[in-house]
Amino acid sequence: MSNKKFYITTPIYYPSDKLHIGHSYTTVAADTISRYKRLRGYDVMFLTGTDEHGQKIQRKAEEKGVTPKQYVDEIVSGIKELWKAMKITNDKFIRTTDKYHEEVVQKIFKKLYDQGDIYKSEYEGLYCTPCESFWTKTQLVDGKCPDCGREVELTKEESYFFKLSKYQDRLIKHIEENPDFIQPVSRQNEMLNNFLRPGLEDLAVSRTTFKWGVPVSFDDKHVVYVWIDALSNYITALGYMTENDADYKNYWPADVHLVGKEIVRFHTIIWPAMLMALGEPLPKQIFGHGWLLLEGGKMSKSKGNVVDPMVLIEKYGLDAIRYFLLREVPFGSDGVFSNEALINRINSDLANDLGNLVSRTVAMIDKYFGGVMPSELKEGDFDADLKSVVMDTPQKVEDLLDKLQYSTALTEIWKAVSRVNKYIDETMPWVLAKDEANSQRLAAVMYNLAESIRIISVLIQPFMPETPHKIWAQLGIIDNKDTLTWDSSKSWGKYPSGAKVNKGDVIFPRIDLKKELEELEQIAVAKSGAKSESSEAENKANASNTITNTKNAETKKSSSAQNKADVAVDDGLITIDDFAKIDLRVAKVLQAEKVEGADKLLKLKLELGDEVRQVVSGIAKHYAPEEMVGKYVVLVANLKPVKLRGIESQGMILAASDDKELVLATIDKNIGSGARVR
Ligand code: ME8
Ligand code: MG
Repeated sequence: MSNKKFYITTPIYYPSDKLHIGHSYTTVAADTISRYKRLRGYDVMFLTGTDEHGQKIQRKAEEKGVTPKQYVDEIVSGIKELWKAMKITNDKFIRTTDKYHEEVVQKIFKKLYDQGDIYKSEYEGLYCTPCESFWTKTQLVDGKCPDCGREVELTKEESYFFKLSKYQDRLIKHIEENPDFIQPVSRQNEMLNNFLRPGLEDLAVSRTTFKWGVPVSFDDKHVVYVWIDALSNYITALGYMTENDADYKNYWPADVHLVGKEIVRFHTIIWPAMLMALGEPLPKQIFGHGWLLLEGGKMSKSKGNVVDPMVLIEKYGLDAIRYFLLREVPFGSDGVFSNEALINRINSDLANDLGNLVSRTVAMIDKYFGGVMPSELKEGDFDADLKSVVMDTPQKVEDLLDKLQYSTALTEIWKAVSRVNKYIDETMPWVLAKDEANSQRLAAVMYNLAESIRIISVLIQPFMPETPHKIWAQLGIIDNKDTLTWDSSKSWGKYPSGAKVNKGDVIFPRIDLKKELEELEQIAVAKSGAKSESSEAENKANASNTITNTKNAETKKSSSAQNKADVAVDDGLITIDDFAKIDLRVAKVLQAEKVEGADKLLKLKLELGDEVRQVVSGIAKHYAPEEMVGKYVVLVANLKPVKLRGIESQGMILAASDDKELVLATIDKNIGSGARVR
């Protein structure tokens, strides 16, 4: 075992719905660093898992008529399949419903209670019953709940509290003395100025209002509330407080916790305070990355985005998706995901720049030298510059990856790719090939191309698990292990003369953008159809807006809850305000016709009071056009327009569906079109 150790974690995911492409962002990033560290000889521990307790999951299970455990089991197995499909190399997968975890959570809670860091008291606050949240007076807006605008009541609830306030000064000192502790730096200032310096309040860490959680061992009216349960996964997974704590001794403290920006606060304030109370060392770094959002208006062409990572992997291959996630957006900033941006990236960077380079090189070695790399080489113009650009790359990539700068690291690798492509234009092998006298020079050009590609293929390994193997097979070095190690990227000349290349399939086929976007729209429509009220989140016609809206809601919550001791957690519930954003109207169908070439779609003209709307709806398999005319339906009237098969759709009509049936939501008694539904 190496004595260089590296422990990295992702957050544990809520298994309340299927994961979307945004979720895979943290995990792909953590996997890439894990692969990179292993290549550099580190003994790596990479942990991910699921955060399975809480009221939201209890409720969802109740709605479905299953136990909470049955509910999460199914989603967790889907999450595990997703990580498998993404070739995620986590060493452990923790579920907070694992018995060993629950037991240690109870021990931690008891220890903190016994030593006086947790105490029982009453949580007194202004309580909003529908939102199930407590507020302080200053947080109210016009004396009402800041989330839903309804009346609040002065309420008391028994709760255990963690003495967070006691650790405030030590936390400030730690953050000030360890500038790497919170990254990027902007988040460090935010934590100090917005939370720590204004003062911390003690934190309510138990609940009596729901049951689906770890019971407090000495008071089973209470369950441990989310943060002590969830955060402690990073150490319970390693056997902390058990007899099998070898991994804990070996790997803790973590080198880095990767987390999305909305949970930086919990990881940089509550978690270190808990560790201080337990007398354990703090993690070395918490890195808060940005969000992958879906576009808000600009790229109006690509509204029907497909965000299911499984579908995307199946269509474009894993490496293309991983490349996009890490290349498109600087880690730390927010970025925009769209199918169009994804396809453009694949075409330019992967198909054109890298894929083409490999195909051309292999084809030329095949054509000019019967596929076998000659040994007699003649140096020439451009060689020195090519070598220096390629040879400078490994060190740059290491420096950048050590700082989690994935996007710039890839940019550096692609600068080398461009330099190599330019070398082909400069040396013009096809001209050299015309004269037998240039044979050794032509051989050197081929060698320099193959060797540059070898080095590049070694450097992309952490990001792309599949492509390097395809390149090595084509270069004829797949079994030549010492040309494939990370360190071999630092020595020029490892590509063996006499190697035999193998022409293979194109590594990244070019995608016809227009055709593909149409197909993706079809998939999005097929998944959504007309939307039923109870269908899953991923079935939303405009899955894109789902992500953006959730995230906006989270931002709002975390800022309004700034001084709240009882932390507002993203529990996936929406407030009445969120719901009020959806403008539902009664609409009368005036006309209906089939959309040519799309057997699922009907084009409808709807009357909405004195307005007329055109809506394209995926109901053609269930309703004939003539059947539709005269019906009163329910329209989501404020949905951003999208184009389906080139036809603008100004809203979406509601329907209920299961595997076989789809029936429209209609109105019980006659009411004029345009009436609001709420
Ligand atoms: O927060 N772009 O779980 P979670 C980028 N259980 N990252 C995204 C994203 C997007 N569109 N959507 C989600 C939790 N994520 C808690 C964590 S840790 C002790 C407990 C990221 O399933 C998000 O930022 O809501 C977070 O880092 C991770 O997915 C899990 O989110
Ligand atoms: Mg969240």
